[in-house]
Amino acid sequence: MDDVSLSNKRSCPKYLATLGLCKVLNSLPMSSPISTWLKSLIVAVMLMVVVGGATRLTHSGLSMTQWKPMHVLPPIAQQAWEEEFSLYRQTPEYKHINKGMSLHEFKCIYWWEYGHRLLGRFVGFLVLLPLLFLFKNIPNWLRGRIAIVFALGGAQGVIGWWMVKSGLKADPSVSHIRLCVHLVMAFIILSVLARALWRFEGKSFKKVCLKDAALIALIGLTIIYGAYVAGLKAGLIYNTFPLMEGQWLPDEWNFYQPLWKNFINNPATVQWLHRLLAIITTAYSTILWIKHGSAYRLITIKIALQVILGVSTLLLQVPLVVALLHQAWAMVVWIVALKTVWVKK
Ligand code: HEM
Repeated sequence: MDDVSLSNKRSCPKYLATLGLCKVLNSLPMSSPISTWLKSLIVAVMLMVVVGGATRLTHSGLSMTQWKPMHVLPPIAQQAWEEEFSLYRQTPEYKHINKGMSLHEFKCIYWWEYGHRLLGRFVGFLVLLPLLFLFKNIPNWLRGRIAIVFALGGAQGVIGWWMVKSGLKADPSVSHIRLCVHLVMAFIILSVLARALWRFEGKSFKKVCLKDAALIALIGLTIIYGAYVAGLKAGLIYNTFPLMEGQWLPDEWNFYQPLWKNFINNPATVQWLHRLLAIITTAYSTILWIKHGSAYRLITIKIALQVILGVSTLLLQVPLVVALLHQAWAMVVWIVALKTVWVKK
């Protein structure tokens, strides 16, 4: 049985057949267990990204100083908490930023990081467990995709720890480049899952033309610069829009030598580039909508909403909920963009 017929056929109970209602039943949209599973994986990965964002924004990411993939339970007894806390007290983040923190305050930041890691394991189980029941109904190509998702998920765990390690040194700040790699990997996993879902649902794909590749490249680059803004805490400076404290381009944009370093490490330049890319992306998508019709309407609206969320995040100086909405909506924008350029109407 091939994947399309598997997802499109449903058996009609006798009583409905007697009433001649099989046609009606078959015309209803159907979700097979496999497509429900793929959708849950997409939602779980998105949730994982949002909890990761909350962990960063609550400054909780460096609270767990060890990486033990096989160790699932959190500290429960008082002594276990004391041990975790004493490990944290040896970190530069505690010594330079959180000195004097109480055990209660430590528990608050610990739970965020613990929740993020636990969710990672949960996603791993969500990949593996349904396989036991669904395996014989899963087409070969999809088994391959699931294996890829599982491998990328494992790599994501390693990247996460590589990122945390960058913040456990004398200067307790996490590398924004590693944070960006971690976020980009999450978007790659989402892309593999979304494409697998559409193929399983029997959608046909088109060849990506140059104008569509340009749209994807612009959105992707804006997302990468968003991760740099987040990692460098560049959302806490220049909290005005459209000008940056009265200037189109802040004076300090070329502070570092050689010049290219500013495009990666200078918070002012990185924030400026994120804004600029977002505006170019919005304008480009609008032009595609005007010139090529309604196929680009949805993606343009999603991008415009993302700009509103981004500007609000900036003007309000990165409040937790708005910043998380901006982060979550970036994933929606990405998936809608992929659907626009990949899937035939
Ligand atoms: C196409 C439009 C846009 C996209 C796709 C986008 C995407 C992103 C992404 C993926 C992040 C990283 C979130 C994280 O990892 O926590 C981010 C952060 C950020 N973006 Fe945007 N963004 C867009 C437009 C804008 C605009 C127009 C502004 C403001 C002028 C803006 C301001 C910010 C700020 C301040 C942050 C850092 C928030 C934080 O520290 O958590 N964004 N953006």
